[in-house]
Amino acid sequence: MAKFNRYLITAALPYANGPVHIGHLAGCYLPADIYVRYLRAKKVDVKFVCGTDEHGVPITIKAMKEGVTPQDIVDKYHKIIGDSFAAMGISFDIFSRTSNAIHHKTSQDFFLKMYNDGLFEVKESEQYFDPEKNVFLADRYIIGTCPKCGNDRAYGDQCERCGSSLSPDELINPHSALSNAVPVKKKTKHWYMPLQNYEPWLKQWILEEHKEWKNNVYGQCKSWLEQGLQSRAMTRDSNWGIQVPLPDAEGKVLYVWFDAPIGYISATKELTDNWADYWCKDDTKLVHFIGKDNIVFHCVIFPAMLKAHGDFVLPENVPANEFLNLEGDKVSTSRNWAVWVNDYIEDFPDQQDVLRYVLCSIAPETKDSDFTWKDFQDRNNNELVAVFGNFINRAMVLMHKLCGGKVPPLHEAFIEEGDRDMLKEFGIAKEKIENSLENYRFREAQAEVIEFARKGNGYMQKTAPWILASVIENLTNGKSNEKYPQYVHCTEQDIPYLKARIDISLHISLQMTANLAIFSHPFLPFTARKICHMLKVVDRMLEWENAGSDKLVNVGYSLRPPELLFKKIEDAQVKDQVEKLHARLKAATAAAAAADAALAPAAETPAKPEIQYDDFAKLDLRVGTILKAEKVEKADKLLKLLVDIGTEQRTVVSGIAMHFNPDEIVGKQVTLVANLAPRKMRGIESQGMILMAEDNGKLVFVNPNEAVKPGSGVS
Ligand code: 2FM
Ligand code: ZN
Repeated sequence: MAKFNRYLITAALPYANGPVHIGHLAGCYLPADIYVRYLRAKKVDVKFVCGTDEHGVPITIKAMKEGVTPQDIVDKYHKIIGDSFAAMGISFDIFSRTSNAIHHKTSQDFFLKMYNDGLFEVKESEQYFDPEKNVFLADRYIIGTCPKCGNDRAYGDQCERCGSSLSPDELINPHSALSNAVPVKKKTKHWYMPLQNYEPWLKQWILEEHKEWKNNVYGQCKSWLEQGLQSRAMTRDSNWGIQVPLPDAEGKVLYVWFDAPIGYISATKELTDNWADYWCKDDTKLVHFIGKDNIVFHCVIFPAMLKAHGDFVLPENVPANEFLNLEGDKVSTSRNWAVWVNDYIEDFPDQQDVLRYVLCSIAPETKDSDFTWKDFQDRNNNELVAVFGNFINRAMVLMHKLCGGKVPPLHEAFIEEGDRDMLKEFGIAKEKIENSLENYRFREAQAEVIEFARKGNGYMQKTAPWILASVIENLTNGKSNEKYPQYVHCTEQDIPYLKARIDISLHISLQMTANLAIFSHPFLPFTARKICHMLKVVDRMLEWENAGSDKLVNVGYSLRPPELLFKKIEDAQVKDQVEKLHARLKAATAAAAAADAALAPAAETPAKPEIQYDDFAKLDLRVGTILKAEKVEKADKLLKLLVDIGTEQRTVVSGIAMHFNPDEIVGKQVTLVANLAPRKMRGIESQGMILMAEDNGKLVFVNPNEAVKPGSGVS
């Protein structure tokens, strides 16, 4: 009996607080999907579960920022994220959500079982509280400096730079993520899991029994276990989340990292009535695909919960990936430095496999890696188009041209050593791909697929059926073959041999094409289907037991015309994408600066002595429209403006060059002090002064709230 009779594959539940980007795909969803597609092709019993993580601070913060309810946020992003995954061919058996009733019940039952078994400590303690917003500051509500690596944007539950799991008390200089306020301490009661009690077991289970886990995962676990574990609160003060199912727990919800992984169980329950087979039988292989920031939760906290509960299997492996950077810089949602999957699908419709291919080629399996649009273009053009697509296209085009659109016979009598060598590669490639996939080395597995296609091109080049066809044509027409020294001595009697050689070359190439469909299917599912369509075979051919076979397409079977599998990506597309990234970054940076300024207290403007109305009435204030704006040479701060005030146009020199781009202010209305005595600045006579409001160093024009005729008086 095989050790495992069924597989349960999970992919981290993304927070429903924003769309997914290519870093998410490369980190967890794509490798999980490749693995699952391979397992399905092997016809094993496998379920692939995921869904959105809809509780916790990431959701409430986003809702606050957008001024909507958390429910609005999770509804919106559950749909966007689900659509992106579906479009990219991520083939979950279920994409659920943690707001579903079944999940609330499953999580509460899980908590109650642990509670009834006496596995929580109830502790009243002083916790950080935001005196301005009136909320306790746990997890991502509180930001400060990481004591381990010095990152000054570390959260109260985790530092995303070094991956350390933190508690708010460990942060240096903590402040509220909601108001920036310095928090105060306030008493509150919570239910804690004494993780230290599970430490000896975790050490045995991971460090002794799972030495085969990936180095990055094993290493992180080892370091945490060696540092020692502590009690961790499994509840929070919040009105968004799953109610703690106890009578004395008003306003308390389950910690999001308590409920989210239980989401894997709830999703399986929702998927199938025999969910317990997958969760409670020892011959299930449970594998969690995650990104590196989730390692502690999936290797330490959730396993400790599962162990404590007692009814469930433990993960057999947690093949976490490291992070994917973008154009040499860390992906950042807040700086909008990301390639969003929904945008990609819009910009590159029908090219999902190209992104899948590139992300798998550069997947951060052992260390952080970098996505660049140039590399995306190169891999598409040099590998998918020039190697994979080219081989299949040549095989199909030549078969139509030289073999009447039908699979030619193999002609055993004329087989040569080169053909035999090529045929041997079928089984070798299968074994290598299989071995890499079984060991979660997806980059290596995919590289073997391309290598197989590359060998196909080499074989085609060597057997050159198009040359054989020319030789036959020359012999038939009585022309010389001196252009082809190898065949110069051939006579008409050799034509049957030459024809057989064409058939053999294309027969083998077509069997290779069919194998490429099977081999590539886990990685490039859309392409594999297209190949099946061209070969007129049903999807069943994609089953893994067919991989390596040299009898996949039958002799005499007529095939469809070739379709274009991949197209070149042009320089202009790369340029557009890079420009788009930078434009977004600029906009996000400006928005963040404005938001920071809004949070910062307004700089006080000192009061001026009282004046009489007559003093004010002396000012001739008029609305004008900026007609022209240009920089003043050798004066960084000055702009020369031409302002239309109805009756005339005034030249005004204004010290606003550091705040405005000249092109952006043409057409804007401003208020002008029109009777200020003219004054020369840098040799230019300034005929008035423009009124500005200053907000913490940011300047804005004082202008009417709707357009008025230039020259309108202000009083
Ligand atoms: O990091 C994240 O996006 C989390 N929402 C992952 C949760 S995985 C699981 F535990 F649900
Ligand atoms: Zn850190």
